[in-house]
Amino acid sequence: MSSTQDPPCVASLPERICIRKPDDWHVHLRDGNLLSSVVPATARCFARAMVMPNLSPPIRTVAQAAAYRDRILAALPAGMAFTPLMTLYLTDSTPAHEIEAAHASGLVYGVKYYPAGATTNSENGVTQISRVYGVLAAMERLGLPLLLHGEVTAQEVDIFDREAVFIEQILEPLLRDFPALKVVLEHITTQNAVDFVLGQSARVGATITVHHLLFNRNAMLVGGIRPHHYCLPVLKRESHRQALLAAATSGDPHFFLGTDSAPHPRHAKESACGCAGIYSAPAALELYTEVFASQHALDRLEAFASCNGPAFYGLPENQDYLTLERRQWTLPAAFSGAETIVPLRAGESIQWTITEEESLRLAN
Ligand code: DOR
Ligand code: ZN
Repeated sequence: MSSTQDPPCVASLPERICIRKPDDWHVHLRDGNLLSSVVPATARCFARAMVMPNLSPPIRTVAQAAAYRDRILAALPAGMAFTPLMTLYLTDSTPAHEIEAAHASGLVYGVKYYPAGATTNSENGVTQISRVYGVLAAMERLGLPLLLHGEVTAQEVDIFDREAVFIEQILEPLLRDFPALKVVLEHITTQNAVDFVLGQSARVGATITVHHLLFNRNAMLVGGIRPHHYCLPVLKRESHRQALLAAATSGDPHFFLGTDSAPHPRHAKESACGCAGIYSAPAALELYTEVFASQHALDRLEAFASCNGPAFYGLPENQDYLTLERRQWTLPAAFSGAETIVPLRAGESIQWTITEEESLRLAN
C-alpha cells in the first residue's frame, strides 16, 4: 500500500513541469469493442502513437492498416486530437511491393518483426529471418524502420536470456547485412541491450516501457504469482532495471518512450495460462514522470518522451505542451467496458497529475 505522506526528500522536487507533448512509440490499441475503452487512455496524453499490428488476424497490408486507422480515429472522443502511426506485421510471405505501397501511403511508419511464437498473436510471425531478407532490402532502400520484438523463441533458451541471445544471433548479423536499415529494438529489458544500442549509430534506437523501469522480476514472483505484472519480454533482475533507468534518464538520443501498453481482459490475465501484457496507458506518462523524479532527472523527461522518438523517425516534434503537477490521484482498480481490464498500479495512488492546460509555450 502506498503512503499518502511524502518522504522528506520529495520536498526538493519541482511541483510542476511543462514538457513538449509526448508520443508513445509502441502501443497496442486492440480492435472491436475494446478500442473505445483503450484509445482515449493513450490519446489523453500522447499526440501520436506507433500502433502495433498484432491483431487477430494481423495487419499485413496497407489496406488493412488504413481501415484499422479509421476504426481507431472513430473510437476517439469528440475533440480529442491524436494521430495513429500505423505498422505492418511482417510474415514469411510479405511481398516487397507491399512495403513499397506502405512507404508510399504516408500512413505506415514501421514494419513489425515478431519471431513466430514469441508473444501474443505472433503465430503468423517470421519463422526465419533469412526468409524476409528481400523485404528488408526494400525497407533499407526506402528508409522504412524495422521494429523488432527482440527475443529468440528456441525452446532450449531460458526465457530470461531470450533478448541477449537475440542480440547476438539475430540482431548483430542483421545490422551487418543491412548497414543502412533503420532498426528499433523494442521494449528493451537488459543491460546487454542498453550496451549494444549505445554502441550503434543513430540508425538504431530502442524503446523502454514504464513497467520495465518500475519493476524487476520480484514484482511478478515474490509473495505469489502476479499475472498483471507478466509481460514479454519478461521482467528481469534488478541490475538490468538499473541499466534501463540510467539509459532512459541519460538523455541519450538512442532511447525513447514506448509504453507497450497491452490490455487483456481480466479473465485472460488471471488464468492458469495467463496472457502477456501490461495495461499501462491510463497512467503511463504520470508513471514515467514518477520514474524520472525518483532519479532526479525530470529535466531529461522531455528528451526521452517528446524529442528522441521524432528525431529517430524523422518526424517533427509536437508543437503543443502539457503540464504535470506533483499532485496525487488514485487509479481505478479496473476499467469496465466491453471487458474488465486491470491497469498497471490498479487502485494505487499516482504521484503526478496532468493538468488540463495544454498550450503553446511562449518563446520566453
Ligand atoms: O507483453 C506483451 N504483450 N508483449 C508483447 O510482445 C505483446 C503484447 C500484447 O500484444 O499483448
Ligand atoms: Zn508490444
